[in-house]
Amino acid sequence: MRDGGGVTDRVTDRVIGGVVVRPAREEDVVRLVEIEEASFEGHRIARPRFARMLRHPTRPLLVAESGGRVVGYASLLVRRAFPEARLYSIAVDPEFRGRSAGSALLDAAESAARDHGCASVRLEVSPSNAAALALYRSRGFAEVRRWPDWYGRGCPALVLRKAGASSSSQETGSAQGRRLRSDPES
Ligand SMILES: CC(C)(COP(=O)(O)OP(=O)(O)OC[C@H]1O[C@@H](n2cnc3c(N)ncnc32)[C@H](O)[C@@H]1OP(=O)(O)O)[C@@H](O)C(=O)NCCC(=O)NCCS
Repeated sequence: MRDGGGVTDRVTDRVIGGVVVRPAREEDVVRLVEIEEASFEGHRIARPRFARMLRHPTRPLLVAESGGRVVGYASLLVRRAFPEARLYSIAVDPEFRGRSAGSALLDAAESAARDHGCASVRLEVSPSNAAALALYRSRGFAEVRRWPDWYGRGCPALVLRKAGASSSSQETGSAQGRRLRSDPES
């Protein structure tokens, strides 16, 4: 694992509902690619990109482990001196879905955002992604706007946001954000 002041380094292992969430390591990358391929049809994160995330202090990458096997991941974007984190991607191996790994990853991602000084987390999700919407809503995320054509023509995204206790930031959708992940499945 990297040393230095990155958020990932500050995330200690968390055990939630029998699932351990910890910072990702180099040896997890092959498994992360498998989960990515099983979870998204397009705009997949490739192996070199996962590897770069591991080294990037503002790209916390967390994995969920169950029975010693990596079963999911969450990727977060934080920016220095910017009070809102963005959940860039989250996925759980289809075989392990519905067993709280997604909830554990989301809780850990929120915690990582707070550790980094972020008062809120936002994310984009397709209105047709019922499982993801159920996960986010069950964890207190609320819709703040809708981006038309985010995932392609006629495929909008809902922007959801959850503020922490000390939050005073505003919703922050931006043209820059639109260049980031826009998976049809997300
Ligand atoms: C979204 C995803 C990460 C959820 O992971 P998970 O491990 O199955 O989630 P959990 O088991 O923690 O379930 C979380 C909540 O969502 C609900 N949920 C899970 N799957 C659901 C489904 N298919 N339909 C409706 N609700 C569902 C659960 O009931 C649970 O709510 P509860 O805690 O109030 O009971 C997973 O479905 C996934 O990887 N999907 C493909 C990738 C993806 O779409 N990522 C999101 C991009 S925006």
